[in-house]
Amino acid sequence: MFSSIVALSLALLAPSAYGAILDVNVGPNGQFVYEPPFVHAAPGDIVRFHFNPKNHTVTQSAFDPPCVPLQDGFRTGFIPVAPETNPLPVQEFHVPDNQGAPLWFYCGQTAHCGQGMVFAINPPADHDPQSFQAHRDLAIARNGTAAVAPPANAYHVPRHDPHWNPATAPTHAVTPQEHRILVGADGQLAYSPAKITAAVGDTVVFEFRPKNHTVTQSSFSNPCVPLEHGFTSGFQPVAADATEFPTVQLKIEDTAPIWGYCGQVNHCQSGMVFSINAVESGPENFAAFQQLAMHPSTNSRLYARRK
Ligand SMILES: *[C@@H]1O[C@H](CO)[C@@H](O)[C@H](O)[C@H]1NC(C)=O
Ligand SMILES: *[C@@H]1O[C@H](CO)[C@@H](O)[C@H](O)[C@H]1NC(C)=O
Ligand SMILES: *[C@@H]1O[C@H](CO)[C@@H](O)[C@H](O)[C@H]1NC(C)=O
Repeated sequence: MFSSIVALSLALLAPSAYGAILDVNVGPNGQFVYEPPFVHAAPGDIVRFHFNPKNHTVTQSAFDPPCVPLQDGFRTGFIPVAPETNPLPVQEFHVPDNQGAPLWFYCGQTAHCGQGMVFAINPPADHDPQSFQAHRDLAIARNGTAAVAPPANAYHVPRHDPHWNPATAPTHAVTPQEHRILVGADGQLAYSPAKITAAVGDTVVFEFRPKNHTVTQSSFSNPCVPLEHGFTSGFQPVAADATEFPTVQLKIEDTAPIWGYCGQVNHCQSGMVFSINAVESGPENFAAFQQLAMHPSTNSRLYARRK
């Protein structure tokens, strides 16, 4: 929202023949972000990157893969900036006439992209599978600190449950266990098993079977909507005759229930959901979660009853 206000005011000030200048802060206050995180721009506009202290880049990528330089794409190289530098160094990007297609960028400094330091020009809206948030999620999933070498990627699970109580959280399992969940086994729109319990320190390995599924974290009340800052595997297309199956790993860091679904069109609505550490004796159990995914209209009733 901030970005569009800046864009608008500058567009009004700038002579139209020269396009607008859109200012973007790179790494303000020592944070691994671009501010604003994306802008909407017209051909001929200039995006002016102001490099704050530290040592960042602005490097163009594709939507997928994130955090990987696009061949012949824009790149500033590393711009080391000492503390207290004033004025900040700037680099300009001239917005091309590309029919408004989205352009994606990231910071090439070690670990910055995996912490979500990505930027976009003209990203699609939030509900689009290629939205800014989807790109950022993908960057964190693929290049986050917990990501290990392919074929297995590991994700940190953010602490997301307001009811999580450290006092009742169990201690680490004596011997950490590995739990395996097959994603779409035998062509079914299901995780097998779909509900598990896992101890802190355990690892959950999702193994993707043929078709094109995801493992995407959501919340109990919105089963088919990605959780903000949650994890996602992205789409994992697997050929029908594949003999090796990609996996992603999840390390269990607390006992808060973890809810998730397949982001492929209509899979969640067909009941392709899973839970880890759902409290089966309470109202927020796996069956209720799956019911909500398949029949969102039960949502209001369920909540009405619980109030
Ligand atoms: C992100 O991960 C990919 C695949 O492992 C790697 O090639 C790339 O260099 C990483 N990007 C950054 C900025 O670390
Ligand atoms: C900036 O970061 C790059 C890549 O990590 C490194 O090679 C370079 O030495 C750094 N520059 C300074 C001045 O720290
Ligand atoms: C996987 O599904 C996504 C979303 O429907 C789609 O964009 C992508 O092209 C598919 N990939 C393959 C290889 O079918």
